[in-house]
Amino acid sequence: MLVNFVTDEPGKIPAIRAMLEPQFHILPQVLQSDDPETGANGMLMVDADLRKMDCVERIKRVLRVKRANPEKMFVVPGHLQVMIAQAYALGATAVVSRPREIISKLIQFANDEKADHNDADSASPETRNSATAFESIFSTAHEGKPVNLADAEYATSQIITNIARNGFNRWLDEIRRHHEGTFQHCLLVTGIAVGFALDLGFCEADVKRLGLSATLHDIGKARIPLAVLDKRGELTPAEEEIMRWHPVIGYDLLKDIPRISNEALDGVRHHHEYLDGSGYPDGLAGSDISDLVRLLTISDIFAALIELRPYRPAMSRPDAYKILCGMNGKLEGALVKAFQGVALNGTKPAVRSR
Ligand SMILES: [Fe+2]
Ligand SMILES: [Fe+2]
Repeated sequence: MLVNFVTDEPGKIPAIRAMLEPQFHILPQVLQSDDPETGANGMLMVDADLRKMDCVERIKRVLRVKRANPEKMFVVPGHLQVMIAQAYALGATAVVSRPREIISKLIQFANDEKADHNDADSASPETRNSATAFESIFSTAHEGKPVNLADAEYATSQIITNIARNGFNRWLDEIRRHHEGTFQHCLLVTGIAVGFALDLGFCEADVKRLGLSATLHDIGKARIPLAVLDKRGELTPAEEEIMRWHPVIGYDLLKDIPRISNEALDGVRHHHEYLDGSGYPDGLAGSDISDLVRLLTISDIFAALIELRPYRPAMSRPDAYKILCGMNGKLEGALVKAFQGVALNGTKPAVRSR
């Protein structure tokens, strides 16, 4: 289970990690930073001095981001009644004071979460977690707010875990059964890129790099009018022009995020470029297109072909792969060839690394 640990003292983070990892995955955030960094997933655990008003105000900001999460645990010294009252006023669902209580509450939350998931449907927890994170990323971008990189990283890690554990084919089935539209597309592209990277034997860091780039690649579509994005049928030339702006919009949405990597920005801006220079938005050609982008573009096209669209049925994987093979000069032939295994057979449920 993911625990978003929010504190006013950075010194508390190593202690909480030592106590809870690896049983729980800790995502720490220090309240002094201006941007709410916690993701929209997992539970919230707050350990801060609730007697200080500035601290309380910052927690309220974090809670606004975390409003979708039902579990909010506050760690408060047992004798400080004023802090206990403040914790409940902030919406605490549990107030604890001792390490033993922290652990038993977390185990209880984790068990409740598992039971909910078993009841809900047959999708794996990782699929649901990544979809929820995608929802948060897209709704934030749609509202014009800064994209939360922690959500994107979390979604990516959940997809990697799922595919490494269960294999690509099962994951693909889940996504096609439970999601649709732009969401389905972004989830599919990420999974295909991750499957591709695992199949090529990429190291963990490179799998994550490509995965994150895929997670964010179409974020610019969050700002495209729904009338264009969800239109049934062919787009008019004017609508086509609007759609062609999404890589630049995505790049602009992400470029000022402090921790964003150049590779992720490259993937977002250039995943519609072709080796022969006929792509958009910058008309890059040949060696100006990085290896990561070449892999991403293949994954993106394959995903688009095997998706169910309102105006056409999903294409079979062999037919979609045949189209990739026919895109001579636009895609790198050696990579298309290397993609054959994932495209036609998927990956086996095991992580390969070198
Ligand atoms: Fe795109
Ligand atoms: Fe795409």
